[in-house]
Amino acid sequence: MPTKPKSPYLPFGDQQTAPWYGKDILSVRQFTRPDLEYIFSVAHEMRVMVERIGTFDLLKGKILANLFYEPSTRTFASFMAAMQRLGGAVIPISEVRYSSVAKGESLPDTVRTLAAYADVIVIRHPEVGSAALAARYAGKPVINAGDGVGEHPTQALLDVFTIREELGHLDNLTVTMLGDLKYGRTVHSLARLLTRFENIRLHYVSPDALRMPPDVIEEVAEKGLPQEEHRTLEGVLPETDVLYVTRVQRERFENLEEYEKVKDAYVITPKTLEEAKERMIIMHPLPRVNEISMEVDKDPRAAYFRQMEYGLYVRMALLAMVLGKA
Ligand code: CP
Repeated sequence: MPTKPKSPYLPFGDQQTAPWYGKDILSVRQFTRPDLEYIFSVAHEMRVMVERIGTFDLLKGKILANLFYEPSTRTFASFMAAMQRLGGAVIPISEVRYSSVAKGESLPDTVRTLAAYADVIVIRHPEVGSAALAARYAGKPVINAGDGVGEHPTQALLDVFTIREELGHLDNLTVTMLGDLKYGRTVHSLARLLTRFENIRLHYVSPDALRMPPDVIEEVAEKGLPQEEHRTLEGVLPETDVLYVTRVQRERFENLEEYEKVKDAYVITPKTLEEAKERMIIMHPLPRVNEISMEVDKDPRAAYFRQMEYGLYVRMALLAMVLGKA
């Protein structure tokens, strides 16, 4: 639960007593289970509203600065769409080389500038801790859209929302994470967030070079969740309720030979899924490269394109919350 609002002024009409008003969203560590239930209920309402009327004016007059130092399709576009579907406006900065960053401007000065023009800042940056640094200087709510190999909290929220919408519950699940668990910030955030639920069992399937980092394993172990590491999916898939596949991220490797050795370590095909439960889901934060064959897309258990759509509703909920409208 957040503590102190940071907005330096309180525009007319905002619900200043709303619990998330003026707060940053930097890490999944911020969220208790009741917080998650609240976010998901707001996200579900957003889904219903979008399906019924498409766009509405909840955030009319508000401005989002969408500041991306790293490539993105889904996170960038869904935050823009979220703000626009809520009637707000967006300052989009996806090519920082065309901004004053290219002249050597520091992150604190860049966010101070954007905070002067916008009501909320979404930031993706290659360095761990960059969103927290931005939040110290912004004076407006900052939302972490991925900080290097650190965290991607809004992705983890949409991942858990996807499980809730698709399977109907968040307790009593076996979740198998597969692929690049070392550099994949989405799985770091998701493993941490799943500790909020009851009777969750985690399997980590990865090549030796891409194992889940020890700090994540320790944090999850402290909450008492059973975790097992594997090199293959064999024997794990039949008991899996959620198979969370990740891309091996070429951009995180300093040595491309190392990348070549592991890049096709796992490929999910219709044959792989013969072993899977009938009622389970396959998730992927996307973008996908080769790790899920396109033939899997038509399998009803393939939830990854629906997952990406759920991201819109979760990000609408988060924007409304930090701007005092939910
Ligand atoms: N899942 C995700 O973060 O995708 P993008 O990199 O396209 O934003």
